[in-house]
Amino acid sequence: MNAQSNSSTKTATKPRHYLMTRPTHYTVAYEINPWMHPEIATDTARALAQWQELHDIYVELGHRVDVIDDAPGLPDMVYAANGGLVVGGKAIAANFTYPQRQPETPLYNAWFEQAGFPVFSTRGRSEGEGDILTVGSTILAGTGFRTALSAHVEIAEITGLEVVSLELVDSRYYHLDTALSVLSPELIAYYPPAFSAASRAVLEARFPDAVIAEDEDAAALGLNLVSDGTHAVMAPQARRLGDAVRERGFEVITVNTDELLKGGGGIKCCTLEIRAA
Ligand code: ARG
Repeated sequence: MNAQSNSSTKTATKPRHYLMTRPTHYTVAYEINPWMHPEIATDTARALAQWQELHDIYVELGHRVDVIDDAPGLPDMVYAANGGLVVGGKAIAANFTYPQRQPETPLYNAWFEQAGFPVFSTRGRSEGEGDILTVGSTILAGTGFRTALSAHVEIAEITGLEVVSLELVDSRYYHLDTALSVLSPELIAYYPPAFSAASRAVLEARFPDAVIAEDEDAAALGLNLVSDGTHAVMAPQARRLGDAVRERGFEVITVNTDELLKGGGGIKCCTLEIRAA
């Protein structure tokens, strides 16, 4: 498939449903990952403009985007992917590792409830789609920095889906969605050095055809992309990864979210996919 043939498949792309959180209170006020440097200035207006551009791209692609506002004192709330997980019409609440983010949980839960999704909780730490990515009918689950292995087991019980645990070993790639992208139900991209040797072996066996990201792509959080199966919305800085994804037949749409990178998040972090079915 090439870029031209994509235009014919565009109309066939299944509309997605995303939840995004407007970053009206965005800043870097504390340090809970290696990307965050509170001493470096942030520009909330710039973050808002970048976020709006991402939002508008999804809408132009025909996806449904619901928006909630962040709350004062919760500068990381823009990273909606961590707000929970909605799979098969069930919501699994976030159980954040760091106290700074724990007050986000009731706010996201309120949205899930009003949207009609029953909310389940895990005893183990769990940071939503930051660490839990759905590939077809399998869940790839990250652990090592945030989400606990015990939560993987709980999530398998709640969803009834197979959960494959993957261990993250590089603190820059503390959430699975910083080191691995889901391009389609069959295709992923990932950065091998972010994973333990055992987890790399699991990924190689399951996804022999995967796109492999290089250091620069990973360092720009290029893997923190959102694909609807036809279009891959991703960081312009991850040029090689963009080319590789394009070669696999995707239409690459770039949006710069470098202001939001100061908090350690990118495009996927700002996007929670709502999977009603
Ligand atoms: N500052 C946030 C944190 O460390 C960034 C979260 C990024 N989100 C993601 N899905 N990777 O919790």
